Amino acid sequence: MKAAALFSGIGGFCLGFERQGIKTQWALELNQHAVETYRANVSTPRIIQKDIREVSVAGDDLEPVDVLHAGFPCQSFSQAGTRSGFDDDRGKLFFEIIRLLREFGSKRPPVLVLENAPFFRYGDGGAWFLRLQNEIRKAGYWFRDENAQEIDAYKFTTLPQQRVRLFMVALSTDHFISGRFEFPKPKSVKAKDLSEFVDFDNDVDEQYYLPKDNRYYHMISNSAKGDRQIYQLRKYLVRTKEPGVCPTLTANMGLGGHNVPFVFGPSGLRKLTEYECLALQGFPKDFHFPESVPWAKRYTQVGNAVAVPVAEELAKFVRKRLATGRIDDGEDRLRISA
Ligand SMILES: C[S@@+](CC[C@H](N)C(=O)[O-])C[C@H]1O[C@@H](n2cnc3c(N)ncnc32)[C@H](O)[C@@H]1O
Repeated sequence: MKAAALFSGIGGFCLGFERQGIKTQWALELNQHAVETYRANVSTPRIIQKDIREVSVAGDDLEPVDVLHAGFPCQSFSQAGTRSGFDDDRGKLFFEIIRLLREFGSKRPPVLVLENAPFFRYGDGGAWFLRLQNEIRKAGYWFRDENAQEIDAYKFTTLPQQRVRLFMVALSTDHFISGRFEFPKPKSVKAKDLSEFVDFDNDVDEQYYLPKDNRYYHMISNSAKGDRQIYQLRKYLVRTKEPGVCPTLTANMGLGGHNVPFVFGPSGLRKLTEYECLALQGFPKDFHFPESVPWAKRYTQVGNAVAVPVAEELAKFVRKRLATGRIDDGEDRLRISA
């Protein structure tokens, strides 16, 4: 089975799908630093570094695939973002996905997987979601409310990061006789211990430490609830989750300020390292940032990514749906005539 990635970032979706044997044939990403990290770690044969608005199926010779995934930019759709929806230029990028699907025509991918902020479903009184639903249907896909589901990395995988995202899976009407899609279920197993991801016992480079005379040092120290806890500064408030859980790692970690979560190490209060953040997103241990990628951009890249084990869980169900119930298998037809 073959996949392609739009807005591939550093490859969260791609790595998760590859773990389920769905190999990425080509990936599209605009940001040069993200492409550098992707290239250094993911063995996709073709990486197209371009603005999606300048890409076309014929002009760029895009190979048809079984699954197209697209974690499209969410700044205008997230609750904490601008909430400007499709009025925002970044929000309009969604229509580029639809354009490419149409350009593929009868060779369009049987399965389309989208990812965005959970607020996408509710924004503008539900109008964003309705619009998306209509556009996807008009492009030749089955899509109903049931084709969208929130998935929290903390509840659906063993990652100790709370990260709720909206996943949407649409099936092509040419390839499937119904649009039903079974999503993964929450897991009953416990999340892994935070200490498998964060080094609480050893010192890291001094650049990660907050000076003791910094006012946030005192704010966090004063609200410290104990060891081995992760703290996040949000609008001048200190936030913690229940013990053992990391709050959502966001793309604004790379914007400076104090957006990277903190922990107490042997020498004081410090930021999580970019590699600890990568681990909390489920990236493999050998995943690395090329030297050319600046420190702040590394955090942005991790915060933007789809958590790899979440992508893998979803890929299991996509693979299952692709393997059974396609029109050319006759399985769905049989069920209907029975
Ligand atoms: C949420 S991230 C995607 C995460 C990714 N899907 C994954 O699997 O980890 C969105 C990505 O879209 C890229 N992007 C934003 N505008 C773009 C454009 N006009 N054309 C192509 N890529 C764009 C950003 O650089 C960013 O890496």
